[in-house]
Parts: sequence; structure tokens; C-alpha cells
Amino acid sequence: MLLHTANFSVILDSLDSIHPIFIHETYMADNDSVQGGKNFGIGIPQASEGFFLKGCGHLDWGMKSRLAQVFSPKSGCTVMLAFDHGYIMGPTSGLERMDLSIVPLIEYSDCIMCTRGALRSIVPPTCGKPLSLRYSAGSSILTYLNDECIMDIEEALRVNAALLAIMVAVGDQKHEGLTIRNLTKTVDLGTKYSIPTMGVTAVGKELVRDARYLSMASRVCAENGAHIIKTYYCEKDFEQVTNSVPVPIVIAGGKKLPEREALEMAYAAINDGAAGVDMGRNIFQSDAPTAMIQSVREIVHNGMKPDQAYKMYQDLKASGGN
Ligand code: 5RP
Repeated sequence: MLLHTANFSVILDSLDSIHPIFIHETYMADNDSVQGGKNFGIGIPQASEGFFLKGCGHLDWGMKSRLAQVFSPKSGCTVMLAFDHGYIMGPTSGLERMDLSIVPLIEYSDCIMCTRGALRSIVPPTCGKPLSLRYSAGSSILTYLNDECIMDIEEALRVNAALLAIMVAVGDQKHEGLTIRNLTKTVDLGTKYSIPTMGVTAVGKELVRDARYLSMASRVCAENGAHIIKTYYCEKDFEQVTNSVPVPIVIAGGKKLPEREALEMAYAAINDGAAGVDMGRNIFQSDAPTAMIQSVREIVHNGMKPDQAYKMYQDLKASGGN
């Protein structure tokens, strides 16, 4: 039996005044307990939750949901495991056999950052970690870097990306404009499907990684719509970098350092306002990568001091953790 529009408004006005059989035959799958609502919590204001990440309060639900997969809502921070280096460097040290070196580390990360190639060939789809997808690609270290294009957004959907990572080369005479346009397009495409974008600041050899430059590069990314910035740590005035950018910053680890120094760097960055690390070489090139990533986690999420974190690293390494 079809219901006429006039009857439909009667149902909305007074559901329980209509004979149950009538409702059953038209709209309701199970009408046995249909009755008017009573528990409206009158006098209790509906909670209006803020969002825990800096500058992300006005984003769409889908963006917030993805960001809350990448960053812990409890600590506000993340440990991303970066192993996308091969896309410009080939089989760099520690990444020759990612099935052996990287897969065992994934469980200790909050998020993985890699290319679609690595993802499809070695990352188990059952790993349960959100993906920061390397979304731009182009030239390799054998020519000059940053001559990049971006991927189809459908590819990001297919692999269920939580974040689109895009290289932005502020100050690169040849490719600055191209990479900022890539960022802009990525933000537009990601916004269609509520996938946030991470601007990755590429610092050319001729540029100085100081607070002035890193603030400039990070701010350019944020102003052009990046939701997260990945940049390098600098010892002097790093809090100037985190404070001059209205969205969360995570630091890249950069070249391999002795473990203690890498832990000190992670601690200093968090202390200066970073919302985590997106670390590669200082983890997978460590003497004991699983010990290292666990020690980094303690710093990032629990504020462990570097001395204690280094001791933890040594203890885990000594107890056979590699
Ligand atoms: C390479 C990258 C890396 O993901 C980034 O540099 C992080 O790795 P590392 O800690 O080794 O610097 O963007 O293009």
C-alpha cells in the first residue's frame, strides 16, 4: 500500500497516533515498539566538542576523522614512519628489502608514509595503520629534484589514504612555482573527498635550514592550504617555526645521527611545539630499529626525557630487540 504525501506529514506529526499496521505496511520494518520519544534531555546543552589539532577546528568531519587516525587524540601527536625515500633515491641503506626491514616496524608506528609502489608490494593491507601517501613524484637525485607532478585522486581513494604528502620546494629557482601549484591542486582534490594534505618542505642544498627559512617554507605551505606541515628541526629558535604556522608541524628526522642525538632532537622538537615526527633514516638505519622507534614513541607521546629514552633504547637493544 502506497502512502500519500498528506499521510506522510501525519506520521511525522504524531507517529504513535497511527495504527501500527498502517505504518508497518508502508515505512516501518518493525513497528512493535513504536512510541513517541520521551528522553530529550531538556535542560542539558548538547556537547559541542572542539578539535584537538591546532588550526583544524573548522575542517569537515571526514578530514577530522582522518587526522584523528594519524594523530593520537590523547597526546595530540604522531609517530609517522617514513620509508618513501626510494622514490627519489632508489634502494637506499635500510630500504633494500623493505619486507624485512620496514614491515616489522609498522606495528610501532601511528601512521606509515610511503609510495603507492611500496604500499602495494610490501605493506600488508591488514596492518591497520593510516597511510600518508607520497602523492607527488617526478625527478630523482640523479638529475635535479622537485620537477614533480601529482597522482590521480582516485588512486588515493583506492588505497584508502588518510593524508596526501606533497613536496613543496620554497626557494627552488626552477621548481618553486610548480611545487606550490602541485600543493594547491592537491588541496583542491583532497578537499573533494575530505583527505587532508601534508606539505613536505624540500630544502635545497643551497638553502640554510634555519628558523627563518623553515618558518617561511612552512608558512607558505599552510597559507596555500596544507593541513599539516612536515619540515626539519633546527636547534636555534625552532619554537619560532612552530609558532609562525597555524597548523600542526611534524619533523623529518633528516640524515642518520647517533641514536642519542636523534632522541634529543625528537624531544627538543616536541618541547618546541612540534606535533610529532615523520621519521625515516634515524629509525630504519639505526642499529636497533624496533628499539629506536619504541623509544621515539615514548618521547613523542609520553614526554620521556632523552636520557631515559636512550636508556630504554639500550635496554631494548640489549634484550635482543633489533
Ligand atoms: C623523502 C622524505 C622523507 O619521508 C623524509 O625526509 C623523512 O625521512 P627522514 O627522517 O629520513 O628525513 O620526504 O623524500
